[in-house]
Amino acid sequence: MDDLKQKYLGAIAGAGNEAALEDIRLAAVGKKGEVALKMRELGKMTPEERQTAGPALNALKDEINSALAAKKAALSDAALDERLRTEWLDVTLPGRERRQGTIHPVSQVTEEVSAIFADMGFSVAEGPRIDTDWYNFDALNIPGHHPARAEMDTFYMHRAEGDNRPPHVLRTHTSPVQIRSMEAQGAPIRIICPGGVYRADYDQTHTPMFHQVEGLAIDTDISMANLKWVLEEFVKAFFEVDNVDLRFRASHFPFTEPSAEVDIRCSWQDGALKVGEGDDWLEILGSGMVHPRVLQAGGIDPDKYQGFAFGMGIDRIAMLKYGIPDLRAFFDSDLRWLRHYGFASLDQPTLHGGLSR
Ligand code: DAH
Repeated sequence: MDDLKQKYLGAIAGAGNEAALEDIRLAAVGKKGEVALKMRELGKMTPEERQTAGPALNALKDEINSALAAKKAALSDAALDERLRTEWLDVTLPGRERRQGTIHPVSQVTEEVSAIFADMGFSVAEGPRIDTDWYNFDALNIPGHHPARAEMDTFYMHRAEGDNRPPHVLRTHTSPVQIRSMEAQGAPIRIICPGGVYRADYDQTHTPMFHQVEGLAIDTDISMANLKWVLEEFVKAFFEVDNVDLRFRASHFPFTEPSAEVDIRCSWQDGALKVGEGDDWLEILGSGMVHPRVLQAGGIDPDKYQGFAFGMGIDRIAMLKYGIPDLRAFFDSDLRWLRHYGFASLDQPTLHGGLSR
């Protein structure tokens, strides 16, 4: 019995894990274990022998069982310690910075412009970036020989020999969305169309892809006065100033008659733009009363309806509002630039909540 005790207490002490311990338990005190076998031998003993051997075997069994229980507890403590050691988490480490991803200034300004015009009852319309030259030019009263076609530095899509489909272009402005929206909705209509446009041009203030927002309002009684008011409200809201001074300069666009380019009064102090005061004028958009031929192309009766349109560079007004010096950086995907000029993703621009916080 002493041998058994030595053997099993030693084995228990040396067990490396709970599975090994279970094997030892079965071999020692399991139903077919060595202690059980010894118990069975009691039957062959004399009553005197049994009187000492019985209690001794029970004591041995108890001793082994309590050694097993103690070892089991020790092993599970060790396992827990090991888990705590390996799954350790330093809760004092700084959390991830919130400004990991930011909203690009073009997206931010598009949202701001949309919020302002939505407040004046305009909805947002979209059109394809690859469009036919009819939508991009002809329907806008820019016929084939018109100099505006050449001035636009248009990207034409490749056409295979014998392909008779109308020529497609990367749209050079958002104005074709005017035609598509008139066709789709008829009059009256009040929309803005933001989106990317393309021209073959590249320097500090020009990139081959940039963004515009078109505006269009058509009804039975719309005049230049409405255009003026809408643009004034827009400029005040966008630049977040109470007073603005707009200058409507006579101009020419094929799709409007009369046409006006719009400047805002401003000053430059230490390179920072101040809108609403000063002696400088800054051109921000082109506009006018929609040409009757354009209404016709959109399927709207020019004897019954008239309206205004305007087109503005989103990247350009983003540069002005947020003091961004080089347009090309908008499209470089430089993370440092994006972190510097980007906007927090949860700050949706709204008129009541503030456009740009
Ligand atoms: N489409 C013109 C451009 O890309 C901008 C423009 C001027 C749009 C006058 C208009 C407008 O709707 O009325 O330069």
